[in-house]
Amino acid sequence: MPPFEEISARPLDPRLLQLSGISRATIEAHYRLYQGYVAKRNEILAKLAEVDLSTANQVYSDVRALKIDLTFAIGGVKNHEIYFEHLGGGGGDPTGAIASLIERDFGSVEAWRADLKATGMGGRGWAWTAYDWDEQRLFNYIGDAQNTFPVWNATPLVALDVYEHAYFLDYQTDRASYIDAFFGNLDWDVISSWVSKYQIQT
Ligand SMILES: [Fe+2]
Repeated sequence: MPPFEEISARPLDPRLLQLSGISRATIEAHYRLYQGYVAKRNEILAKLAEVDLSTANQVYSDVRALKIDLTFAIGGVKNHEIYFEHLGGGGGDPTGAIASLIERDFGSVEAWRADLKATGMGGRGWAWTAYDWDEQRLFNYIGDAQNTFPVWNATPLVALDVYEHAYFLDYQTDRASYIDAFFGNLDWDVISSWVSKYQIQT
């Protein structure tokens, strides 16, 4: 593997310590998990840089394990950066560019919210609203882990973390109430700014 650059965790926005229905303790513990994914990503790339590809076949199993772990770590970084960045708002119905995309591709805000909630209830790790560049529309995709099941050429705009660590302190097993709280803290200005940044046609 070629040399790589270490990355650092993005700072925790203080707004996240004052969410409605998601406690400071949950966010602080969750942020530490995110920092762990960043550290893991750097550590795995360092190990891959050390692998001697000219030696016997046994390195292939090392490469396999490291590369699978890398997808988990990088998935953990990307998923949580979206999650933390788009919380801290007032929730409610979508506004701005994302609102017209949701209306167009799901028919209504209610239909989008019901579908994302059901996806989050059915998933083991994540539910994402992503813009698929090939289909040219939004989908709510499901994820069982940090590295399953993203699809190529799609850009996540909403990332709903449904791992137990995201809600167990606050809601125990009541995931549905946590998902409602998640919706209540979304910052639609941030999400719409991503629609503009990625130049998604509305
Ligand atoms: Fe998480």
